[in-house]
Amino acid sequence: MSIQFDEKAGVFSLVTANTLYQMRADGAGVLQHLYYGAKTGEDMSYRIRMVDRGFSGNPYEQRSERGYSLDTLPQEYAGSGVGDYRVPAVQVTSCSGSRSVDLRYRDCRIEKGREPLRQLPYVRGAGDTETLTVLLRDDVIGLEVQLLYHVFPSQDVIVRSARLINTGAQALTVEKAASACLDFLYGDFDAVHFHGRHCMERVPERVRLPRGVTAFGSRRGMSSHHSNPFVIACARHATENTGDCWGCMLMYSGSHLEEMEVDQTGSLRLVAGIQPDGFSWTLQPGELFETPEAILSFSGSGFNALSQQYHNVIRQHVIPQRYQQASRPVLINSWEAAYFDFDAEKILRFARSAREMGMEMLVLDDGWFGSRNDDTSGLGDWTVNEGKLGCSMKELSERIHALGLQFGLWFEPEMVNEDSELYRAHPDWALCDPGRRPVLSRNQLVLDMSRQEVVDYLFGAMCAVLDSARIEYVKWDFNRSVANCYSAALPASRQGEVPHRFMLGTYQLLERLLERYPGLMIEGCSGGGGRFDAGMLFYCPQIWCSDDTDPIERLEIQRGTSYGYPISAVGAHVSAAPCHQTGRVTPLRTRGIVAQAGTFGYELNPEALTDCEKEEIRAQIEEYHRFSGLISHGDYYRLTELEEERDYSAWMFVSPDRSEALVSLVLRHVRANGPVICVRLQGLKPDGLYRPEGGQKCFTGAALMRGGWVFDGLRGDYAAAQAHFVLEG
Ligand code: DGJ
Repeated sequence: MSIQFDEKAGVFSLVTANTLYQMRADGAGVLQHLYYGAKTGEDMSYRIRMVDRGFSGNPYEQRSERGYSLDTLPQEYAGSGVGDYRVPAVQVTSCSGSRSVDLRYRDCRIEKGREPLRQLPYVRGAGDTETLTVLLRDDVIGLEVQLLYHVFPSQDVIVRSARLINTGAQALTVEKAASACLDFLYGDFDAVHFHGRHCMERVPERVRLPRGVTAFGSRRGMSSHHSNPFVIACARHATENTGDCWGCMLMYSGSHLEEMEVDQTGSLRLVAGIQPDGFSWTLQPGELFETPEAILSFSGSGFNALSQQYHNVIRQHVIPQRYQQASRPVLINSWEAAYFDFDAEKILRFARSAREMGMEMLVLDDGWFGSRNDDTSGLGDWTVNEGKLGCSMKELSERIHALGLQFGLWFEPEMVNEDSELYRAHPDWALCDPGRRPVLSRNQLVLDMSRQEVVDYLFGAMCAVLDSARIEYVKWDFNRSVANCYSAALPASRQGEVPHRFMLGTYQLLERLLERYPGLMIEGCSGGGGRFDAGMLFYCPQIWCSDDTDPIERLEIQRGTSYGYPISAVGAHVSAAPCHQTGRVTPLRTRGIVAQAGTFGYELNPEALTDCEKEEIRAQIEEYHRFSGLISHGDYYRLTELEEERDYSAWMFVSPDRSEALVSLVLRHVRANGPVICVRLQGLKPDGLYRPEGGQKCFTGAALMRGGWVFDGLRGDYAAAQAHFVLEG
């Protein structure tokens, strides 16, 4: 049993292969957080000291125990307004106008397996998954909170969420409902968060947590390029391979908030969930609100191990089941090859040439529908522009399949241009504040996905296209931040529900499409990686990682992404040189090696390639197939430290049985008379004998891990090298 309840002590222990998460309901019914970290086999409540601290008040019933204060006790789901002055997990306004929430323990339930969430993506259960539900109540306002803990023992993961239920007779307004609240009693902590911008997503930044609140998050109606819903709290001296670190990843694609507060005594509280700014939710008597899930994981041996735990849980329990093992097609995407300038004949020429080089799927990007010849018009009109193509989608798809390629199509369902049939017919379907002109971005408006008729329209329109031709893949784009988040269909008092209802509408549409087309592969995208999150990964086994396809920029973007997300989810393509975003010229080999640390594909005009380049691409694709199992299912290691300035980037994959390893290195800065590059490998069997490909001599894993592997002879701008090792004994 991975969930144990010691009734006498009131202690709950959630035990995974290497970790222990512990809490207890004390005599007053406060659900105290006791510990999250490496397994100890101990009741960890001995660490709590009741110290009488000035200005930290006592609940009325405990008024004689001056050391008992909600302000200093570590808690599982902190209420508000009742003497805990740290960031709350939950804020509710009752019909009296009172804003206090005081939750006390009532009951618990331990079950095998797990129930899906009702309307949100969730971490799929497996044979060994167990669920603890802890029931808390605030009797005064009639609020019941069910805290859910799903334990994934072999992945060292605990998934948390909360359900808020109005058991009273009057409406309640939920102002904040976090997915998880984690108190760390002792320690000196750093935070790692992932900031960014369009074309530079998920840049890790490590900050020493100061006293007070440090907050990360998004108000953009999307998880965003700017702040990924994943944070790590770590010991001050944690490195890639040593030290304690705790990850908290929100499974949500909308606005979010991660708060980290170091309080008066140096304790840390981490609260993560839906962004409360701009959010409120009316709960009528009997109604229930469910929060998104937060995926928690702990590693006692640094960031690499923590990342691998996230990679495993996402690969095994988050992405659609059929892609857990299935290999992904090597695709060519038309965007950087042609942008809006194409017809069917051009696309077919791309397809022919792509097939000759060994590619497996052609994806027709933006521009095939409505009046779409640039980004000023047509979004929302999902009817095939046969005039532009010169044929029907059915015919184009048939001809592409006849060449031996699969076929994929781009959509941007949640958006509309003012210059579109859809907007002219339903201007109120776009989000817009009454009396204001909306904010435009890339000439587009955002559809009101909180309205069922909008979701139904999109479902019908997309099905009409998907039914008309054989289409194996959809690229699902989202090219602006949400603003003017006001729905013409909801009353004034419920406008705070729009941002979250928007996400529920999007998830519903994804769900319905996958139900109807179980074989369809959806690749997520949002101007590159603006919605690279576990919520989208529930539907999309891969997500276009960035609109920046420069391999040297991608080194940073893909490395940052790897902290939380598996390589098999990272959309990465070889593009043209000079790169369209930066103008940088890089060797084709380097572009290939960088794209290999992802789903691998191409995004260039094949007609502009020389014969020599075509030959190299053919070899690249063969090589990718040779290593794709290792890349998709192996353990990934970053071989340079976080924020370390080096002349090179290096990473490696090791097969789960440690019999094979692939090391990749890209030179970012070539130097005359520079130092020899020697990289210490990771994850091998210390006493195993590994033969490098093409080499005569075997090396012990210990030698390669302690002494390293020397990469010499690298010359020229942005050269890259790989070393492949096979275990021989
Ligand atoms: C942004 C995406 O990230 C690109 O790959 C491309 O699909 C364009 N949108 C098309 O408008």
